[in-house]
Amino acid sequence: LKKIGVLTSGGDAPGMNAAIRAVVRACVFYDKECVGIYRGYQGLVEGDFTPLGARSVKNIINKGGTFLKSARSKDFMTPEGREKAFHHLKDNEIDALIVIGGDGTFTGASVFNEEFDFPIVGIPGTIDNDINGTDFTIGYDTALNTVVEAIDKIRDTANSHNRLFLVEVMGRNAGDIALNAGIGAGAEEILIPEENLGKDRLVESLSKSRKSGKTSSIVVVSEGDQIGKNIFELAQYIESNLNDYEVRVTVLGHIQRGGSPSCYDRVLASRLGVGAVDVLLANKKDVMVGVKHKKIVVTSFKEAIEGTNEIDWDLLKVADIISI
Ligand code: F6P
Repeated sequence: LKKIGVLTSGGDAPGMNAAIRAVVRACVFYDKECVGIYRGYQGLVEGDFTPLGARSVKNIINKGGTFLKSARSKDFMTPEGREKAFHHLKDNEIDALIVIGGDGTFTGASVFNEEFDFPIVGIPGTIDNDINGTDFTIGYDTALNTVVEAIDKIRDTANSHNRLFLVEVMGRNAGDIALNAGIGAGAEEILIPEENLGKDRLVESLSKSRKSGKTSSIVVVSEGDQIGKNIFELAQYIESNLNDYEVRVTVLGHIQRGGSPSCYDRVLASRLGVGAVDVLLANKKDVMVGVKHKKIVVTSFKEAIEGTNEIDWDLLKVADIISI
């Protein structure tokens, strides 16, 4: 194994640059060549490559986004696209790939490996923390801090106006961002896809806290939650069923994906970047590297995608207890 390609794919996440940097420098350390592939699998289909050396990745550990850019490639989903990708890899004498991304990225990697028996190792990079086989994904910690900072600001205005705010956060089908940022920001209620609270129970609980003396409230709503899916409708429902509260909605959106990565994410990305090169050099493929209980572990792509990264029910109980 002489030459390793690296790409970032799917939704970007803070810390992806730190992961690329670690991959490149581990390659240099082990005397391997490293090639960057632009725009995820799309760049692979188009042969959009660039050689990377230790100095190509200077001054990026602190930068959000991904300098290799990212995409959700439609072409790579077709057999013709993957065929082209394979030929570009062969033409450029690339022997193995490291892909940084989430479940879509690993699905693509797994299919490609099945078709061409090409060695690929994955690194979990997504703010959603929805990947099985790692306690945390790169970008999740930074996103949590961004959400908490935003909600702290919303709290100021909610409190001044005696208002109730519904704050929508990302996470796709996982409630990790909502649950953890909700606790960190002192939310009244946290709506997550893993638990179906129901509109009536929500209103009942909000009304109870109003009667107990609360004058403003923050409800964190995960984008994948059943009743939170239409957040503006939910806001109207609450306003008409709960007297004395004006309701406002804030959708935090893509600010959650940007910003300088937290120290935790930089360290995680650095460990996983080096870990991915180590795993490739140990001749493993079709696996993702993760960190579980502080140790680097590998999980097959299939398990990483199919298994569910269970929500922490104890944490949900904590949220209930401390929000009375
Ligand atoms: O997977 C990361 C994520 O930010 C999800 O939380 C969100 O549902 C989705 O990507 C948004 O995708 P896009 O950036 O394509 O709108």
